[in-house]
Amino acid sequence: MKIVFIIGSLRRKSFNRSLAERAAGFIGDRAEISFLEYADIPYMNQDIEHPAPEAVQKVRDEIMSADGLWIFSPEYNFSIPGVLKNLLDWLSRPLMPADPQRITAVTDMPVTFSGVGGRMAAANARKRLSELAIFMKMRQMPGEEAGISLPAEAFASDSYTLSAEEEQKLRNQAEGFLEFIKR
Ligand SMILES: Cc1cc2nc3c(=O)[nH]c(=O)nc-3n(C[C@H](O)[C@H](O)[C@H](O)COP(=O)(O)O)c2cc1C
Repeated sequence: MKIVFIIGSLRRKSFNRSLAERAAGFIGDRAEISFLEYADIPYMNQDIEHPAPEAVQKVRDEIMSADGLWIFSPEYNFSIPGVLKNLLDWLSRPLMPADPQRITAVTDMPVTFSGVGGRMAAANARKRLSELAIFMKMRQMPGEEAGISLPAEAFASDSYTLSAEEEQKLRNQAEGFLEFIKR
């Protein structure tokens, strides 16, 4: 099984990336995990949509080789970061220009979301991602998601250790997702 992790933050010391690394540790060798590199894809522009730019094709190939996607995203202004939205906009487009079925790289793809943020634990970002998953015909895992709310000290020191309860939530999500993608 292969799971592609997508981090919604490009920040070097991203808390969302740290959370993803922790989740990868829980999964261990039960699935192959890759972190999607997508910082080099261009802005969505229908003038350059076909043929897909090389960087977009590379990302699509990586995603189509996966059994599931796990997106870890911060919340930017009550929504998802622009870089992640741009990636999802590309992924929402049919692979073939005039395909009446509009098959994309993520059609029927199992997906789950986590988020590290401020007081709201990236709840708005995760809600937006759920809405996008429906619109993009992905298969979102039902049930609990790891939403982590960071205290101000974490932002000041750029470090945070998950509580036992938060670890458990993340572990539950990882176990749940391994089962979900098998179906
Ligand atoms: C442009 C911008 C907008 C933000 N808006 C919100 C927000 O609406 N809600 C929130 O909880 N945090 C917000 N934050 C704070 C981020 O949640 C915080 O910086 C987080 O650590 C970013 O994730 P990362 O550590 O994975 O990069 C915002 C940060 C930025 C840069």
